[in-house]
Amino acid sequence: MAHNKTVFITGAAAGIGRATALTFARRGYTVGAYDIDEAGLATLSAEIAALGAAVRTGHLDVTDFDEMSARTAEFVAASGGRLDVMINNAGILVAGRFADIAVPAQRRMIDVNCVGVLNGAHAAHAHLRATPGSVLVNLASASAIYGQAELAVYSATKFFVRAMTEALDLEWGADGIRVIDMWPLFVQTAMTDDIHTGSTSSLGINLTPDDVADAIAAAVHPSWLRRRIHQVHFPVGTQTKVFALGSRFSPAWLTRLLNKRVSQS
Ligand SMILES: NC(=O)c1ccc[n+]([C@@H]2O[C@H](COP(=O)([O-])OP(=O)(O)OC[C@H]3O[C@@H](n4cnc5c(N)ncnc54)[C@H](O)[C@@H]3O)[C@@H](O)[C@H]2O)c1
Repeated sequence: MAHNKTVFITGAAAGIGRATALTFARRGYTVGAYDIDEAGLATLSAEIAALGAAVRTGHLDVTDFDEMSARTAEFVAASGGRLDVMINNAGILVAGRFADIAVPAQRRMIDVNCVGVLNGAHAAHAHLRATPGSVLVNLASASAIYGQAELAVYSATKFFVRAMTEALDLEWGADGIRVIDMWPLFVQTAMTDDIHTGSTSSLGINLTPDDVADAIAAAVHPSWLRRRIHQVHFPVGTQTKVFALGSRFSPAWLTRLLNKRVSQS
């Protein structure tokens, strides 16, 4: 029996993860939606079922490698042995001046945003390798372009995600796995509800979760040209595209000055 394509999404109960789960369900994927928020997963599961798509949900704390391994293995076993797309989406953000944020809160960002991505990539690798045309998608951020004032550790975790993506793209090409990351600027989700930094007041919070979900779907199913140029990083939205391009071609002093101005530091 032919099985649908499958997508496994961490942090799927809300925000970008939830919008992405619904987008892939509409495209006929079997969706694996995992999160620590089981109430959010229950309403998502009903929404996906109403679309007529197949869905599995379950508790997953991305910082726990054993749980990540168990959930990915269960999902793949229940979905005909396929893992077409793994999306490391779960993430947290604590904003403010570095010295004002207590160390445990800073470390928690490293656990979820860095160790969570490490765990997801490690647990998914064998399943992705066994599925022709598979893709690993990591949620980085526009804050992986230049270190961000008032988001110092968050921004550093996204540089980790960027480096992991670049390295695994090189390593896993031989396994037939594409590895890419997404670089959205600020998105209207619970993550940014109470964030008031110099950058949010300069730039606004303009993207919606659907904008990012659509960009992920497009990146997973790239045009012939994007495949030819082997695009690894996917800036989302016009502002990020301008910053990403600018940072590649402007001298370091100018990039720093622009970031200083934007962050009102
Ligand atoms: N919102 C933005 O402005 C923005 C911009 C760029 C990148 N991103 C990135 O996109 C991703 C999703 O962000 P969002 O805005 O949708 O956030 P969100 O807060 O709306 O949703 C995050 C989801 O992750 C879940 N989660 C948190 N900790 C978890 C853990 N330990 N294990 C499993 N699930 C956990 C939450 O329960 C929630 O459902 C994150 O990686 C974030 O860094 C967000």
